[in-house]
Amino acid sequence: MTERVEIGGVAATELAQQFGTPLYVYDVAQMRQQMRDFKSEFEARGVDYAVSYASKAFATVAMYEVVKQEGIHIDVVSGGELYTAKQADFPMAHVSFNGNNKSVDELEMALDYGVGTIIVDNFYELALLEDLLAERDQHQDILLRVSPGISAHTHEYISTGQVDSKFGFDVDSGQMLTAVKQALASEHLNLLGLHAHIGSQIFDEAGFRGVAERLVELAAEAEFVPQVLNVGGGFGIRYTQEDQPLPATTFIDDIITSIEQATQAHEMPMPAIWVEPGRSIAGPAGYNLYTVGSRKDLPGLRHYVAVDGGMGDNIRPALYQAAYEAQLAEPADDRPTEAVRIVGKYCESGDILIDEQNLPKLEAGDVLVLNATGAYGYSMASNYNRNPRPSVVFVEDGQEQEVVKRETYQDLVRLDQHYDLA
Ligand code: LLP
Repeated sequence: MTERVEIGGVAATELAQQFGTPLYVYDVAQMRQQMRDFKSEFEARGVDYAVSYASKAFATVAMYEVVKQEGIHIDVVSGGELYTAKQADFPMAHVSFNGNNKSVDELEMALDYGVGTIIVDNFYELALLEDLLAERDQHQDILLRVSPGISAHTHEYISTGQVDSKFGFDVDSGQMLTAVKQALASEHLNLLGLHAHIGSQIFDEAGFRGVAERLVELAAEAEFVPQVLNVGGGFGIRYTQEDQPLPATTFIDDIITSIEQATQAHEMPMPAIWVEPGRSIAGPAGYNLYTVGSRKDLPGLRHYVAVDGGMGDNIRPALYQAAYEAQLAEPADDRPTEAVRIVGKYCESGDILIDEQNLPKLEAGDVLVLNATGAYGYSMASNYNRNPRPSVVFVEDGQEQEVVKRETYQDLVRLDQHYDLA
């Protein structure tokens, strides 16, 4: 027997009725729990730390407010995320700013706001920041982002050649050493330590152990004592039953142990450890609600069932062949089961949300719930085909609140101007 789907104590069908579909729904308690689990893992081990929510996964004013309530930090990667965090009155000292091509305007904004840490990615930025700070006679805490030469997929050090990545200072060619020297020599930059991020949706501890050790080695090579080592994010989550990730806290444990051992080996004091989880905080707690519409049955080949959303609200299946699982909001155990392809309403053959899944025979009007959609769904949404973006609803303790309104057709043309040069 399947059960009706409840999110944060409210039935999914009720949410669909009240707010319409497509709809993004978040179980806020689940996000809070994940943030608390990260914190308690560090606290249990008695190390200095910062858990910095990588807000590119899902950034809205309400989300920043929840993160603020939980007392963890955030990482932003654009003026837009920074501005949104400011609207949530997020404590700017607890903000770090990542990105490989921050603009002058964005850096000025960060300095105006008093962002805690800027994670400097390249020489252009290092010089730019130095100039801006000198003009203002201001000081800034920074980390230097390095390409550590570790692949998250093979979990092996890439021992030959350069790491082919646009992010961070290269190590083999001496860029990192030069950058550390420059930063240490600066009167305006306060170099706290090093940063690396090796990838996303990682399932294996080896990659995290590798990057943790590598950062200690790199600091030792550069002959400087870091106050902070930031190992980035990337903790994998479960999208389908085939995914069996370790709990993110297990990764944290491994990271701490690796840094403890490596610093002891290099006779270096234990630094603060910073992590930047995005997906693991927002992903599992998010659900996309759709209403079933048309279908096309190809005898002996396939059943297509279309929902009222698709690649505009969740680009991940089309972009990365990402797999999701769906469930019917209301039990329908009396219906026969069929293997279906769930597609969207966008004018592209690649607008497939689920390649194939066995589900009770779907009927027009059914509410379908896609699980684990909370990360990189809303944040990567588009208005493709001029479809308005869905609203976002937070649910907690049996209560629901719309935290982003559904876009209207008027919103779609709000910035459009009539062409009148002719
Ligand atoms: N820190 C840095 C520097 C990053 O670049 C990222 C992700 C994170 C932290 C957070 O990683 P997470 O814990 O969320 O895996 N759009 C893709 C994911 C791109 C991730 C980019 N950077 C997706 O939908 O899978």
